[in-house]
Amino acid sequence: MAAKIHIFSEKNTNFAAGKIIYSSIMRIDIITIFPEMFNGPLTESIVKRAINKGLVDIHLHNLRDYSTDKHRRVDDYPFSAGAGMVMMIEPVDNCITKLKSERDYDEVIYMSPDGILLTQPVVNQLSMNQNLIMLCGHYKGIDERIREHLVTMEVSIGNYVLSGGELAAAVLTDSLVRLIPGALTDETSALSDSFQDGMVSPPVYTRPREYKGWSVPDILLSGNDAVINEWKYQQALERTKIRRPEMYEMLKKN
Ligand code: ADE
Repeated sequence: MAAKIHIFSEKNTNFAAGKIIYSSIMRIDIITIFPEMFNGPLTESIVKRAINKGLVDIHLHNLRDYSTDKHRRVDDYPFSAGAGMVMMIEPVDNCITKLKSERDYDEVIYMSPDGILLTQPVVNQLSMNQNLIMLCGHYKGIDERIREHLVTMEVSIGNYVLSGGELAAAVLTDSLVRLIPGALTDETSALSDSFQDGMVSPPVYTRPREYKGWSVPDILLSGNDAVINEWKYQQALERTKIRRPEMYEMLKKN
């Protein structure tokens, strides 16, 4: 079944034979000039399943629909010299104001390379919210007044510059949706994700036990859960020390 992403703000229709089957736990409104970019990230895998289960409601808003310009323009030249176009305040304000007139939002998040870095604790914190707006920027940036008056939080997915905020918003959405109760099966439980306990994950193996002479550690086949769990813990600790030394230092302090 295709994921039911709302391209424009339609009413949620989580009904089957007149009965509500799930009540959506989170609503995410994404403001973008490229709604099509979300095909794929939001229409496959865990996000798709969560949408179809009614656990999350995702609405894509084409910013151009909120432009008052007859050419649907959403950008203009910067005041003063400088390369690149700037995203205009009016269409963004029109869209956010309309959304806010329909419900309260916990955060209006601008996806920006100089926002706070997205880490698992930030995702965990944001996952407590019910209604989020994500604004995807483009061009040289957005009119600073949008950041001052409309945005409540700025999030970066890393210290590098993407062509726009869409991929970042898709990453943030994915990281949030997998935390919604019911989105993951037990076997893919978010509790065992890397970073959830301040450590990276231990290695995992599957059949065959022996492949080209490369074998699975004997301990995993021992059947002794206590010993296996201790091995996994030590492996995770060792990996954290090597791969995320700053995280390892935090673990030692706590
Ligand atoms: N937009 C452009 N680059 C970005 C980044 N690294 N994180 C979030 N939004 C962005």
